[in-house]
Amino acid sequence: MTSQTLLRIAALAILASPLVAQAGDASKAISLAGNLCASCHGEDGNSAIPNFPKLAGQQVVYLLRELKDYKSGKRQNEVMGPLVSGLADDDLANLAAFYASQKPAPGTVTEPSLLPVGKTLYLKGNAASDIPSCESCHEVDGSGSGKFPRVAGQNVEYLLEQFRLYAAGKRNNGTRVMRTIAERMSEKETRAVSEYMASMP
Ligand code: HEC
Ligand code: HEC
Repeated sequence: MTSQTLLRIAALAILASPLVAQAGDASKAISLAGNLCASCHGEDGNSAIPNFPKLAGQQVVYLLRELKDYKSGKRQNEVMGPLVSGLADDDLANLAAFYASQKPAPGTVTEPSLLPVGKTLYLKGNAASDIPSCESCHEVDGSGSGKFPRVAGQNVEYLLEQFRLYAAGKRNNGTRVMRTIAERMSEKETRAVSEYMASMP
């Protein structure tokens, strides 16, 4: 092998390594998650506190992107930003893999009477106010896929806060669609669709 070829192989290996690291190793995040995250998000990512999001069973692609965005400040939050700012990208990938592999627990519905309204909006959208269906991106069962987050079983208080942030333009690291939707939904629809998402197993 010429030294040229060796150099090229070395360069390719360096270029490829971040991609390999992206995959994440859940087992390497267990102690980090226990020390840094469990107090708010629960040991297994099923956050018991209503305004903290559940992470268990969340899409790995989505988790990693949000963690990187907290780190870079693209998604702003005074709790999460400082927490992840000192972590390496490998740690973030491992944490994402860890929470994605945990089993999601059922959510808590607080106003069952709103479920039918929420279900209709989730599955059909609202043509009159030009709101698309949620299932077209978040899946019929709310499990999400890739960059589309799982919403099934999510905590209602957390969801309501996110819609407030989207509508106010304060959560703007992702797709513009969510802001438009949050602006168009009535207060009742917002509450109802949040209850419906929490009710999905
Ligand atoms: C002091 C409580 C607290 C701790 C500790 C904490 N979080 Fe959070 N986490 C929150 C809150 C509150 C939010 C919602 C923030 C927002 O509105 O953007 C959040 C949001 C998140 C989100 C976004 C979830 C979503 O559905 O978009 C992820 C991912 C996350 N945290 C991961 C972690 C990880 C990993 C750790 C440990 C390194 C951690 N958190 C530690 C309180 C905490
Ligand atoms: C065109 C695709 C698309 C449609 C339609 C859509 N979403 Fe989303 N949604 C996304 C994407 C992508 C994200 C990831 C975060 C971001 O971009 O801010 C998201 C994020 C969310 C979040 C935040 C989840 C979290 O863990 O923080 C909620 C809640 C949500 N969507 C609810 C809804 C509801 C309710 C509807 C229907 C009224 C809906 N979405 C329709 C693409 C979509």
